Amino acid sequence: MNRFLDLADFSRDQVVDLLDLARRLQERPEPQALAGRILGLLFMNPSLRTLSSFQAGMMRLGGTSFVVTPGQGTWQVETRTGAVMDGGAAEHVREAIPVLASYCDALGLRAFAEGRDLAADLAEAPFQLMAGLCNKPFINLESAVNHPCQALADWKTMDDVGVPRGGRFVLSWVYHPRALPLAVPAAALHMAAQRGMEVVVLRPDGYALPEPIMAKARRAAAESGGTVSETTDRAAALAGAHVVYAKEWGSPAVYGDAEAEAALRRPLADWRVREAWFANARPDCHFMHCLPVRRNVAVADEVLDGPRSRVVQEAANRMVVQMAVLHRLLRG
Ligand code: CP
Repeated sequence: MNRFLDLADFSRDQVVDLLDLARRLQERPEPQALAGRILGLLFMNPSLRTLSSFQAGMMRLGGTSFVVTPGQGTWQVETRTGAVMDGGAAEHVREAIPVLASYCDALGLRAFAEGRDLAADLAEAPFQLMAGLCNKPFINLESAVNHPCQALADWKTMDDVGVPRGGRFVLSWVYHPRALPLAVPAAALHMAAQRGMEVVVLRPDGYALPEPIMAKARRAAAESGGTVSETTDRAAALAGAHVVYAKEWGSPAVYGDAEAEAALRRPLADWRVREAWFANARPDCHFMHCLPVRRNVAVADEVLDGPRSRVVQEAANRMVVQMAVLHRLLRG
């Protein structure tokens, strides 16, 4: 394994094998496994969990890390090919990434969607370009339409709490004051389909996920014995649910148009997860969210603070599964 860019690059069995390694490292720590190894972390966008969990995980394996956040103590970095760099950015990724790669044994990159052109964001061209500039093991810390580390942690969290392979997984759109990227919903959808679950995407009109994202999930489901469907009917979606996975995302229908997006989502502020949502779910239905979450906007306190919530466990599993990714990338 030389790259960790997308769970779709791995078979279901390979993902299960990676999760077995994560559990092994959790039960039998290897504090010297990556002694002397260095992880570089390039964050074009903010983070709490991804940044701290990668640094902590690397240290727990005996290695170390450095973090670069362009524009905050380091040069602003240009990503566009052919840019005339007469603005704020003094450095281009064409130099910055090979330079950073020369200092470390593996490099991680976070680069969110630009949020202007849906086709361009779906193509992930800037991220692929940057990945191609790195000659060391490379990790996707969240790209325009993917967040494989989050997806892997979510898979493990469901294993940990006993959600069955074929359990009903409801990915529900929830309200946020503005459009957020498609990375987490796309990754969670694919992950649940690859796990072999009965996946339902619950979303209001105007928020259907792009067809390439749905098609990718359907392919994963076909290979693993799962199913993928979508609906606007909350009661039908949640009936018998094992898991409700809430996420905020922008409308693909008006992508990049802030005014149209605001108008579309204005009447949807009641798409906030509350305990009443779970009336027809399984009594032990779990609630998941990748965090950060806006309390009492996207999800009510009663759910986040209640017994269904797995949000902190998901975040804790970020470090555990990423240790397995680092172990595989740097020790084989
Ligand atoms: N879930 C997640 O990736 O959190 P951060 O944005 O804080 O890294």
